Amino acid sequence: TENHPAQVPSDAGLGELRQAAAGCRACELWEPATQTVFGEGPETARIVFVGEQPGDQEDRAGEPFVGPAGKLLDRALGDAAIDRRDAYITNAVKHFRFTPTPKRRIHQSPGAEHLRACRPWLEAEFAVLKPEIVVCLGAVAAKALISPSFRITRERGQLLPWTPPGVAAAEDGDDEPDEGAPAQTWMLATAHPSAILRTPDEGRAAAYDALVADLKVVAHALA
Ligand code: URA
Repeated sequence: TENHPAQVPSDAGLGELRQAAAGCRACELWEPATQTVFGEGPETARIVFVGEQPGDQEDRAGEPFVGPAGKLLDRALGDAAIDRRDAYITNAVKHFRFTPTPKRRIHQSPGAEHLRACRPWLEAEFAVLKPEIVVCLGAVAAKALISPSFRITRERGQLLPWTPPGVAAAEDGDDEPDEGAPAQTWMLATAHPSAILRTPDEGRAAAYDALVADLKVVAHALA
């Protein structure tokens, strides 16, 4: 089967984008995967969380962050007093990449080609949502959206002025800003919930607390 670039309908809402993404053939990951896992959340969300790619359970359910990493993220959002209704949750790559083994499907990080192929969907999500804050969960999302030299360890937890690709920001000047685009938009990167689950016992509570502390920065910025 031939791959062809993501066919993103113009001026589409989230429902139409989701439908179009279900048939995406922009890279080869669609074939072994169960389904496209599109983002989820209300069109009015002020925060967009960007993870890496769906995992095994997300691939089966067709929903982002519903497995172990999602459970941890839910708990952290609660502890940071972030209302799920303010949040849209998506991934940089919308198909599960894995190596099949007899016992289980082993997660494989997405390659640059998968990030590139999938990016039009993320930009289309940003264009519809016009979020005030984009939270990158982990290095893959942060490097894909900011720069390959972005280092989570050094720059996590900081609100950085940043305009999501796909959004014409109010402060851009020449062009008419998108209707409904916030005057100031931000990015914040933090650890990936899966990285916390992989942290050895003795360090896990501190790693979790650091995630919650970063999320509280987001909560305060929105207050
Ligand atoms: N990890 C991710 O990055 N995204 C998901 O949706 C689930 C686990």
